[in-house]
Amino acid sequence: MEKIIVEICTGTACFVMGSGKLLSIEESLPANIRDYVEVQPVLCCGLCRDWTNSKPPVVSVAGKMIAGADEEKIIKAVMAALEGGNLC
Ligand code: FES
Repeated sequence: MEKIIVEICTGTACFVMGSGKLLSIEESLPANIRDYVEVQPVLCCGLCRDWTNSKPPVVSVAGKMIAGADEEKIIKAVMAALEGGNLC
């Protein structure tokens, strides 16, 4: 099975808003899905310039962007990606 890529922005705005803590999200994932997830830090993609629609921290799960990301949203997105569903 192909891994679900979780990209966590480590740009300044996202880092200040908590993305640093999200880099260890793998530890919070249920054991049965942990092996199917790969977490990657990424540089700012510019979404933070529009806080109205893209509140930091910004995370991408299997290519789907999550603004105002937290552990709960990421885990939900990973589960949806594993099931082949859409997040939005
Ligand atoms: S710092 Fe994260 S999108 Fe810009």
